[in-house]
Amino acid sequence: MFKTIPENFIIGAASSAWQTEGWKGKKEGQDSYLDTWYKNERHVWHEGYGPGVATNFYERYGEDVAYMKEIGLTHYRTSINWARFFTDYETLEVDEEYAQHIDNVINALIEAGVEPILCLEHYELPTALQEKYDGWSSKKVVELFVGYAEIVFERYADRVKQWFTFNEPIVIQTRVYLDAIRYPHEQNTKKWMQWNHHKVLATTKVVELYHRKNYDGEIGIVLNPEVTYPRSSSQADKKAAEMYDLFYNRVFLDPLVKGAYPEELFLKMAEHDITFDYTQEELDIIRENTVDYLGVNLYFPHRVQAPKHKWNENTPFHPAYYFDSFELPGRRMNKSRGWEIYPQIVYDMGMRLKEEYGNIPWILTENGMGIENEHLFMNEEGVVQDDYRIEYITEHMSCLLDAYEAGSNCRGYMLWAFTDCVSPMNAFKNRYGLVRIDLENNRARSLKKSGFWYKDVISSSRLEV
Ligand code: BG6
Repeated sequence: MFKTIPENFIIGAASSAWQTEGWKGKKEGQDSYLDTWYKNERHVWHEGYGPGVATNFYERYGEDVAYMKEIGLTHYRTSINWARFFTDYETLEVDEEYAQHIDNVINALIEAGVEPILCLEHYELPTALQEKYDGWSSKKVVELFVGYAEIVFERYADRVKQWFTFNEPIVIQTRVYLDAIRYPHEQNTKKWMQWNHHKVLATTKVVELYHRKNYDGEIGIVLNPEVTYPRSSSQADKKAAEMYDLFYNRVFLDPLVKGAYPEELFLKMAEHDITFDYTQEELDIIRENTVDYLGVNLYFPHRVQAPKHKWNENTPFHPAYYFDSFELPGRRMNKSRGWEIYPQIVYDMGMRLKEEYGNIPWILTENGMGIENEHLFMNEEGVVQDDYRIEYITEHMSCLLDAYEAGSNCRGYMLWAFTDCVSPMNAFKNRYGLVRIDLENNRARSLKKSGFWYKDVISSSRLEV
């Protein structure tokens, strides 16, 4: 059976600057949060390959764009590396060499008939701002981010029509200040909420700027809401799922789409003495400058149950006070990544955005399957036979088309990732691409079976399910 892909539906792929570019041309003092974390803490240079060269997109973007053209991608999303865009983050002195690279990439994509979508931050907070201002704890960083956006729009908004402020803005502070698994290993929920708020504020200020300057395009944010299912239909399990949703999903979705934080979030924060700095003026800016559209990254579901643990009241408040995570027995797994496979999340998210969030336009901006030891799946001609990826994409895209049919305002599907690339968590261990990067052979590019298949889906506008 076939499903028809609607006209103008996006069938694209994504990546990010840090995960592909490599450090060629990077100057002293241009480290980002990820560089510093990698150098000081992570050390997962899988078999010696890490972000230093990455896929060398900085020098080899032309080859990748040629593959995008061959496959027929409609859109390609990547980020501008904020840490590399300036030689001084405060005076906003642009690194012209890096800015020229961005210019070249945009022009190459357009010439190849692939529409660029750019994100202003995909975990690339400059380390210098982290050190001087404690990162997003400070309103000064909000101001500098808006200044960065202004320069970027002046240079590129004539050709780039689709923008995102952040990719998955909740992730860093959750690892750093909620779970305390990254430097400075300090559990500090107040700081976590402050970072959330400042990223919400920065987004709405950039939305205001983009609209005020009347650019011909759209501005949004890429979120990673985790579709959360309760273990059972009991009130206690349902409450646990609601609480997870409140702290991890609605904390960004509600202010950025509806214009206000959920009242319950403030009540819960107050109950646990979590205060953070915000003003009425900031809440007004948020109310008046909601995003034009959303990017939504979906890989796996989250399942929760009522908490069984006894909470130690002497430990700082953590949202896990309200829930325990739960692993569904017999669930389908991507064992390389340790993520459950449950395509229904795409449909459920689409319907939720329709029903609860004013049917805001959205793109499935990331979805994909990272697999280790992919070379073992190579046939005699050296083509990776990644049928598991074809199956994964088919199932998720099919649910997206169902959501579209049911009236969800979804605009398309973007695979993570176009080529294999560096993962902040696992370097090159898990491969995600339609295009293989042969690390041992000077990073030679070649299409995987999924690349040929994707090309077919795009040219025929049909998905065989
Ligand atoms: C997304 C991120 O959440 O997941 C990407 O936006 C990331 O940057 C992708 O690479 C896959 O996750 P991982 O941890 O396997 O690289």
